[in-house]
Amino acid sequence: MKHNLCVIGYGGMGGWHVRHALESDVINLKGVWDINPERLEVAKENGIYAYSSLEEVLNDKEVDLVTIATPNDVHIDLAIKALDAGKNVISEKPVTLNVKELETIIEAAKRNNKLFTVHQNRRWDTDFLAVKDLRDKNELGHIFEIESRVHGSRGIPGDWRKEVEHGGGMLYDWGIHLIDQILQIIPEKLISVNCVFDNITNTEVDDGFKLRMVFENEMSAYVEVGTYNFINMPRFYVKAEKGTGMINDWQNDMDVVKVLQWHEDGVIPVKTAAGLTKTMAPRTEKTTESYVKIKPKSDVHDFYRNYCRAIEGKEKQLVNHEEMIRVMKVIEVCFESARTNQTIKTNL
Ligand SMILES: NC(=O)c1ccc[n+]([C@@H]2O[C@H](COP(=O)([O-])OP(=O)(O)OC[C@H]3O[C@@H](n4cnc5c(N)ncnc54)[C@H](O)[C@@H]3O)[C@@H](O)[C@H]2O)c1
Repeated sequence: MKHNLCVIGYGGMGGWHVRHALESDVINLKGVWDINPERLEVAKENGIYAYSSLEEVLNDKEVDLVTIATPNDVHIDLAIKALDAGKNVISEKPVTLNVKELETIIEAAKRNNKLFTVHQNRRWDTDFLAVKDLRDKNELGHIFEIESRVHGSRGIPGDWRKEVEHGGGMLYDWGIHLIDQILQIIPEKLISVNCVFDNITNTEVDDGFKLRMVFENEMSAYVEVGTYNFINMPRFYVKAEKGTGMINDWQNDMDVVKVLQWHEDGVIPVKTAAGLTKTMAPRTEKTTESYVKIKPKSDVHDFYRNYCRAIEGKEKQLVNHEEMIRVMKVIEVCFESARTNQTIKTNL
């Protein structure tokens, strides 16, 4: 049985959900609703049914699933209305702008006995899955630090993402994905957070940020989003007891250098313009082993597949409420840290 979906908000990401649904083995696209009539015209031109109002969507008994892909500030109102109308709801990220609003939606889902989740699609990104696999298999022993970066050079895209009132800024936009990924790799308790915002092209919201997260068990993560980077740094860089892993860019596999023998005799110093250094001299091949770790395969259709099986009571939903709340709590602490210019102790 396929579940009947209406996509609310037929913009950039709404278009993605529509195309995705048209290819899906678990979803039947019933139509779209957007407050902008021009977007409804585009839907009709694309052969997609355009609902005439939100009420028409909510009253359509055949629609049992709604995906919300509007600007961030309106997710809450639409999600609660849809849940109260008896629909299952997927919201785009970030679902809400704070924990309290998120809890209000979760209560509405419980009250109506409907399934509610957030589209954390980047859990299916293979660069992230490779790093998670490195940890899960203990391939390089204890991991001290994971650096996760995304860099662009075009500033904040679009219009509403540049404005506070719509939940703009890169912490909400990309931070929510990268923090979720780190918490999937490192389930240990988060004990402190330090976040610094960039305001290079925009003073109203952050157009990038630098975030240090310290966990129990001597692990930390450094997450960086930049929109003013004309040379990109590696997507992932992992420092571990038995070596280093690095994924240079989205399309690359992981370069791994494993240490075979810690001590090395006869190190030849590197000459720099102003002196010599043995400390920073590269290792010889005798004491290390280099290889490429191939990224695991993934299928992003598994997000909707899992969600539909969860509606049918056959599986647990993969992106669950506890995880959603934990990520949103970290986001709140990031704002506090950036505002006060302080490291904040946490118990998350
Ligand atoms: N998961 C991902 O990979 C990913 C990627 C991009 C965007 N997103 C998320 O998707 C959401 C939409 O982003 P976008 O880039 O598509 O924005 P967008 O501006 O391209 O599209 C938003 C659409 O929502 C419509 N809209 C606004 N208010 C509405 C309302 N009250 N009812 C119905 N329609 C309404 C607008 O008219 C517009 O067509 C955001 O929450 C964003 O964070 C997620």
